[in-house]
Amino acid sequence: ARLVVLVSGSGTNLQALLDAIADDPGYGARVVAVGADRDGIAGLDRARAAGLPVFVCRVGDHPDRAAWDRALADAVAAYQPDLVVSAGFMKIVGPEFLARFGGRFVNTHPALLPSFPGAHGVRDALAYGVKVTGCTVHFVDDGVDTGPIIAQGVVEVRTEDDEATLHERIKEVERRLLVEVVGRLARDGYRIEGRKVIVP
Ligand code: GRF
Repeated sequence: ARLVVLVSGSGTNLQALLDAIADDPGYGARVVAVGADRDGIAGLDRARAAGLPVFVCRVGDHPDRAAWDRALADAVAAYQPDLVVSAGFMKIVGPEFLARFGGRFVNTHPALLPSFPGAHGVRDALAYGVKVTGCTVHFVDDGVDTGPIIAQGVVEVRTEDDEATLHERIKEVERRLLVEVVGRLARDGYRIEGRKVIVP
């Protein structure tokens, strides 16, 4: 399967996918391009180091959000992906992108959805005082972190945690979960029935 991965930051989830693909010829998927909403991020450096094509699609370079959404969809479509993976991509895609990639667009979120959606899931869980949190890999729908859940991983919150220490511990679980889920979707296929994701 052909993967296009979208990043906005350090790209350690991307790196986990690249390492899994390099280590396992039978993984069943390969990254064909990496896109971002900004330049100057480690995620793009990781893609370049792996010899991958990269593209940057900035909201500010377009007259409005719909134009950006269309441009992002065009940039992704150019690589003919079977699956698009948002690995820390911090923009909400619009109707055009979803019309073209909905149902094959996966996101990873650092909280146990539906709890703590949005851009500050780790901070919000910590502030709430939950004893366990974790990460969720889900299909993207037209909401914010509301699409059908594929898999989740649980992480204990420690009393001495701050956002950074908790997020790093979540990311250790998240990277493994994303690698496992993407490989299974790529190798075994899947069906989405309402809110249920069936992976044979
Ligand atoms: C991940 O925890 C992702 O869930 C969140 O931001 C983090 C991105 O980390 N949205 P990285 O860029 O993959 O290192």
